Amino acid sequence: MGNICIVYASMTGNTEEIKDILASTLNTAAEADVYMMDNTEAEIIEDYDYILLGSYTYDDGDIPFEAEDFYEELENMDLTGKNFACFGSGDTLYVDFCNAAVLFEERVQEQGGKIMEPVLKVELSPHDEDQKEKCLKFAENVLHFIAADKIKN
Ligand SMILES: Cc1cc2nc3c(=O)[nH]c(=O)nc-3n(C[C@H](O)[C@H](O)[C@H](O)COP(=O)(O)O)c2cc1C
Repeated sequence: MGNICIVYASMTGNTEEIKDILASTLNTAAEADVYMMDNTEAEIIEDYDYILLGSYTYDDGDIPFEAEDFYEELENMDLTGKNFACFGSGDTLYVDFCNAAVLFEERVQEQGGKIMEPVLKVELSPHDEDQKEKCLKFAENVLHFIAADKIKN
């Protein structure tokens, strides 16, 4: 099994599109395993060193239904030694833009995880050039982190 994975939740496909961009950029260096959050147990993280977590935001800046169980399971885990980068799609019409991705970032840090790259917040679909550029930059920075981390260890 590879040591990079992406676990994501998407209802209308925007976060999934971000995942596709991230996966294809990461795959230039290393194959990333991809899982959907609603049918994946958080324990899957134990098999990986580098974990990308993606979620869209629902209600008032909340974790959406598909991501709730996974988010709760993280609270019982020791994530020391694991490296994370969180991403998501949202809509700036709402007050708490992309807050679910922020909540994931906070939770993994609380559990001892390290952040490879600050949260990626995408306005709706990454089709727009500016948004796509942000996704590519995020993926490249994650790759740099992994390359540097592998040299250290
Ligand atoms: C009822 C509802 C509530 C939402 N609440 C928020 C919110 O609080 N913050 C935010 O950034 N986006 C919010 N959104 C926007 C979605 O996160 C956005 O449409 C996103 O692109 C959906 O991602 P997906 O295509 O991966 O499902 C909300 C959307 C709906 C339908």
